[in-house]
Amino acid sequence: MKRFYITTAIDYANGSPHIGHAYEKVLTDVVARFRRTMGDEVHFLTGLDEHGQKVQQSAQDRGIEPIELCDEAAEAFKDLCKKLEISNDDYIRTTEERHKTVVRSLLQKIFDKGDVYQAEYKGFYSARAEQFLQEKDKVDGEWPEIFGEVVEITETNYFFKLSQYQDWLIDYIKSNQEFIFPRYRAKQVLEFLKEPINDLCISRPKKRLEWGIPLPFDEDYVTYVWFDALVNYISAVGHGSDDFKSYWPVDYHVIGKDILLPPHSVYWPIMLHACEVELPKHLLVHGWWTVDGKKMSKSTGEVVDPLDLVEQFGPDAFRYFVTREMNVGQDSDFSIDLFMSRYNSDLANDLGNLLNRVLNMTGRYCDGVIPTPSVNEDLENDLWKLWDETFSKAVELYEEFQFHTGLEKTFAFISAINRYAEQRAPWKLAKSDEESDKQRLNTSLFVMAEALRLAVGLLQPVMPGITQKVWNLLGDTEDRSWKDHMQRSEILVGKKIGEKTILFPKPQADE
Ligand code: MSP
Repeated sequence: MKRFYITTAIDYANGSPHIGHAYEKVLTDVVARFRRTMGDEVHFLTGLDEHGQKVQQSAQDRGIEPIELCDEAAEAFKDLCKKLEISNDDYIRTTEERHKTVVRSLLQKIFDKGDVYQAEYKGFYSARAEQFLQEKDKVDGEWPEIFGEVVEITETNYFFKLSQYQDWLIDYIKSNQEFIFPRYRAKQVLEFLKEPINDLCISRPKKRLEWGIPLPFDEDYVTYVWFDALVNYISAVGHGSDDFKSYWPVDYHVIGKDILLPPHSVYWPIMLHACEVELPKHLLVHGWWTVDGKKMSKSTGEVVDPLDLVEQFGPDAFRYFVTREMNVGQDSDFSIDLFMSRYNSDLANDLGNLLNRVLNMTGRYCDGVIPTPSVNEDLENDLWKLWDETFSKAVELYEEFQFHTGLEKTFAFISAINRYAEQRAPWKLAKSDEESDKQRLNTSLFVMAEALRLAVGLLQPVMPGITQKVWNLLGDTEDRSWKDHMQRSEILVGKKIGEKTILFPKPQADE
């Protein structure tokens, strides 16, 4: 059986977790959880990119071994996953033996087939980008800041014949329109491929860089970081073993737009093709969280660390915010005001108040037991019609990674439940002695509870904790498949509701 296999990029060990890492993990987790709800057997991989000059340098500056630095980073990044309730099935570190073995076997394979040659390189090198540069990389005659200090070097290295695969790659991308999502990113790749590509330098002399995987055919060199890092996607799922084909080809590599070109759209497909491994089915390329239009990361020193919001408001609120605000593929500007406004209006007011209403009124008018519905008037019919539309639309949108609009539709339905409550006004019906009003009262309490139960079901991939909490409070505690949960039913009738709960507490004034 082929699993639905999905990966994130693996984070650099040489940095601390920030919103970019958190977002990518949440996005991937939302897709993974959504696929699980749809019945797929999901395998979700994330991990850490541990080799390279920057790690070696930082460790040296701190007077520790590189592996100690990586161990610390692995703790920090795993802790981030835990705090965000990421449901990854595996965590790969590139210093693990299972990874190194596969990297070396791929290198040997391309070497044996004659795709590798040795040559002297004379030119510019950026240690920060761990990359050789050319004059054309200069902007207005200067090296852009991202490259840090650029030095001239002469070095003998090993090169992988990327260029001989260029035409094949162009063809592949043109004839596989679904390979890169969103599609406009594929155009950028094809644009890039209009110019001849250079062969890829896949080695670094050990005298300059020790912290890497030695080349199997020349132990005086270690492997270039990208050749090492990309391989994690296959080393983690047992490339070379029989089980490999139950994972590979991967369904989605989720990556940021900065690492599409050239690593994921040029190096990786060519590496795989050269090694006769199938290509990934899709690359899912997301945009950046920015502040004033600039990519957010720890080192740019933002005033508010967005990750503090996870501690303060809980993982579900954070997950909701990043998924609701970001149109997958595009950039989104982060601000604390935006976060607070989503938190207060969507979560605390619309969703939180609806739950309060259901719990309070069922407690007050029905001794805390959800009553049997018996009335079907326009108000009920309109609400159920909207539910049917919302459900099918949201699932369709989720399938196309349009989570922000899927959530928008779900919250529009939540608002409609609140409107229904106001129009039915159970508090007025409760004052009437008429039997028909009694029936309307019971119906309205049931309808509000059932509609809320269904609405939070749609939030499950994004806010799994909240969904579970609300289901528990409403008495929907049976272990059933998501599809069963999402059927309209009378399962709640006769259920005793839980204690009054504040789902999203209002922050204190000084927070
Ligand atoms: N180690 C490489 C990836 C190797 S994958 C085989 C790397 N690491 S990273 O730590 O710099 O970035 C990890 C992921 O976070 C990348 O997909 C990157 O695009 C994403 N983000 C980093 N900053 C970001 C934002 N400000 N916003 C959204 N995501 C961005 O690259």
